[in-house]
Amino acid sequence: MSTAHKSDVFRKLLPVPGEEVDLAAAYAYPEDLDRPWVRANMVTSADGGAIGPSGRTRELSSDPDRYLMGLLRGLCDVVLVGAATARVEGYGPARGRASWEGLRRGRTPTPPVAVVSRTLELPEKLLSDAPEDARTIVFTTAHAPRERLEHVRRLADVVVVEGESVSPVHVLDALAERGLHRVLTEGGPHLLGEFVAAGLLDELCLATSPHLLGSGAPRIVAGGPGAPGAPEHSSVRSTPVRLAHLLESGGFLFALYTRSQDL
Ligand SMILES: NC(=O)c1ccc[n+]([C@@H]2O[C@H](COP(=O)([O-])OP(=O)(O)OC[C@H]3O[C@@H](n4cnc5c(N)ncnc54)[C@H](OP(=O)(O)O)[C@@H]3O)[C@@H](O)[C@H]2O)c1
Repeated sequence: MSTAHKSDVFRKLLPVPGEEVDLAAAYAYPEDLDRPWVRANMVTSADGGAIGPSGRTRELSSDPDRYLMGLLRGLCDVVLVGAATARVEGYGPARGRASWEGLRRGRTPTPPVAVVSRTLELPEKLLSDAPEDARTIVFTTAHAPRERLEHVRRLADVVVVEGESVSPVHVLDALAERGLHRVLTEGGPHLLGEFVAAGLLDELCLATSPHLLGSGAPRIVAGGPGAPGAPEHSSVRSTPVRLAHLLESGGFLFALYTRSQDL
């Protein structure tokens, strides 16, 4: 699918089957946000796996999936990822796309990427290739290796927090200070697990890919309660979400789940 792609390869299944899909409207963030709204975009196999045999997600993806991922980037103020995803998937700064026409009026042409890391082992291009108006934002701790920290500080906007870990609250507070409310996290599973555990995920855009990966593949969330070795299932919390819509394209299902607001 080229950039000339039209969103009409997506078929609406729910709430009204067959209705025409306006993707930008279907995935619009709530208006007039006065706090960060955290949306995750993840892909899973039909049997719940989040990482393919390559150690990446490419076997699970498709042209429509990549198109939607691009559109979601165009809608957001900031793309947030864990450092392992940035390393494994070879992240650079977000690139503008044809599908963004009209989406970023009044904002920078591309959203900055924000990355969370203790080691500061980050793809160099993610730091050095970012445009001046969308510099990469790096969240790290006071224990970060000194030399790496100095290097990263020269190229990126660095937020250093006290303690061993950058909490989701640290991240959202710093993004809010920068006026970045429409947050799109692209994972990975460990970072997403932290946001879910903190009760700070507002929406999940979930692509279900027509593949089976078997029991060896990790899920879209990892770490924390419920992880292998975690002692008690009683620590697993259930948060209801509402299915806002379900689309289909090429055998892939694209669901948008929103956290129930009455919780
Ligand atoms: N299915 C999907 O939709 C999807 C989406 C994204 C990624 N993936 C896959 O998932 C894998 C990577 O995900 P992952 O779960 O292993 O890792 P991840 O969540 O992307 O990143 C974990 C890393 O982020 C940093 N980090 C996370 N929480 C932190 C905290 N509280 N404080 C400070 N630093 C923190 C650490 O970086 P340092 O190690 O630098 O300290 C940590 O090692 C890849 O295989 C990727 O292909 C799948």
